[in-house]
Amino acid sequence: MIVLRPYRDTDYPAATRLWRRVFGGLKAEDERARLRQTGARNPGLFLLAEEGGRLVGTAFGTSDGRRGFLYHVAVAAGARRRGVGRLLVREIERRLWALGVGVIHLRVDGVNRGAIAFYGSLGFTADPPVVGMRRTLPQAAIAGPAGRGTSLQTAITGPAGRRSTRGRRGGNSRPRERRAAR
Ligand SMILES: CC(C)(COP(=O)(O)OP(=O)(O)OC[C@H]1O[C@@H](n2cnc3c(N)ncnc32)[C@H](O)[C@@H]1OP(=O)(O)O)[C@@H](O)C(=O)NCCC(=O)NCCS
Repeated sequence: MIVLRPYRDTDYPAATRLWRRVFGGLKAEDERARLRQTGARNPGLFLLAEEGGRLVGTAFGTSDGRRGFLYHVAVAAGARRRGVGRLLVREIERRLWALGVGVIHLRVDGVNRGAIAFYGSLGFTADPPVVGMRRTLPQAAIAGPAGRGTSLQTAITGPAGRRSTRGRRGGNSRPRERRAAR
């Protein structure tokens, strides 16, 4: 019998074993502490499927209050096509709808025909063509000199709402962020 239960931090070793097998590796965001943090912000949305006490599937949901996201939908090769994936996704959906989320997003590799067929069978439709963009945390933001962020923030908000940086950057009154965006 397949049983769904919440993911706990102590499941991390077994879950990462499954993801390594199913996805071929882990991403930086799969670090244990980060998952613990994300799970704590999304109570009840990280689920595991077990059969006879053995982990056979995972599905993680998150919500920003308006939209839901689905991650780490993975079923062990030996347990596929028995409805485990459907069970996991339907339960996450139910919980996300209950939170007031109106749409659930996910990303799937365009060549992963099996997963696309799977999500299609559950009612997911492909987004119209979009450009996926990302910005990863720059190293400078981690190792840069302390205070760098503070001066930028001051320039954006300014005293009493004025956007002046006069005297701080050679009299150029245009905030650094707006200049950089041109
Ligand atoms: C995609 C995946 C999660 C599906 O899990 P599963 O437990 O096998 O799926 P289910 O048994 O619940 O399938 C439900 C329905 O989806 C469809 N489906 C599932 N896998 C399919 C496949 N490989 N090809 C075509 N249709 C598929 C079928 O309609 C199926 O119903 P049916 O078996 O009655 O025909 C699983 O194959 C998997 O872990 N794949 C590798 C990881 C992955 O690609 N994850 C998605 C990342 S975005």
